[in-house]
Amino acid sequence: MIKLKNIEKYYTNKFLKTYVLRNINLEVEEGSFISVMGPSGSGKSTLLNIIGMLDTPSDGEYFFFDEPVHKLSERKLSDLHKNYIGFVFQQYHLIDELTVYENLETPLLYQKVKGSERKGKVAEVLDRFNMVAKKDLFPNQLSGGQQQLCAIARAIIAEPKLILADEPTGNLHSDQGKEIMELLKKLNEQGTTIIQVTHSKENAAYGQKIIRLFDGWIESEKQEEEKSLKN
Ligand SMILES: Nc1ncnc2c1ncn2[C@@H]1O[C@H](COP(=O)(O)OP(=O)(O)OP(=O)(O)O)[C@@H](O)[C@H]1O
Ligand SMILES: [Mg+2]
Repeated sequence: MIKLKNIEKYYTNKFLKTYVLRNINLEVEEGSFISVMGPSGSGKSTLLNIIGMLDTPSDGEYFFFDEPVHKLSERKLSDLHKNYIGFVFQQYHLIDELTVYENLETPLLYQKVKGSERKGKVAEVLDRFNMVAKKDLFPNQLSGGQQQLCAIARAIIAEPKLILADEPTGNLHSDQGKEIMELLKKLNEQGTTIIQVTHSKENAAYGQKIIRLFDGWIESEKQEEEKSLKN
């Protein structure tokens, strides 16, 4: 599904080139669940943004299914993003001017889902996330945890093939965090490919594979299989 070849990301100011990602080679098969870990500033969000087509690499090749993402126009990237990807941002990025209901509706509007079906899906997700009572509030009227739940709900509502989640449970109570991880696990079992960034070892263990970033390099690719063989 995803193939990254020698991806590099750097920022230049005046004469200085600062690398954020170095020589990233990564293949993600459809149906897998991958966790990305690493210290603050190691490039996790940058990598997720590139995979999500919200940022472009400075160098290297990216294939999504068979599309050469590194060669596509912004328009095409935006179409691919809207049709295939549900993204949970580290800072949520809910639309301030829209209510919870309207925020949840946007991915369905992008996908041109019809009115009655749209209403049904939003109602179902509101119910599943216990947010029915909050549906007419604006993001700034929600607690941090509620905003995070709303951001997760928005990422899954259109049933994307790929979910990219940047610290999806960072602001949640541990029980709620566990519920979200169980939800991701269930979606993965139903075929959704998931890549999550997490600082939590417990959450990382939901993935079949952990990728560790360190100063922009992939440090190790530890197979969950290896671990289970040792146990
Ligand atoms: N627009 C930019 N210009 C210059 N440097 C940037 C820019 N965006 C990100 N960086 C740098 O890239 C590095 C990686 O940032 P990134 O957000 O990917 O880290 P992260 O691993 O997600 O960290 P955290 O765990 O704190 O979220 C940081 O050192 C950051 O300062
Ligand atoms: Mg980050």
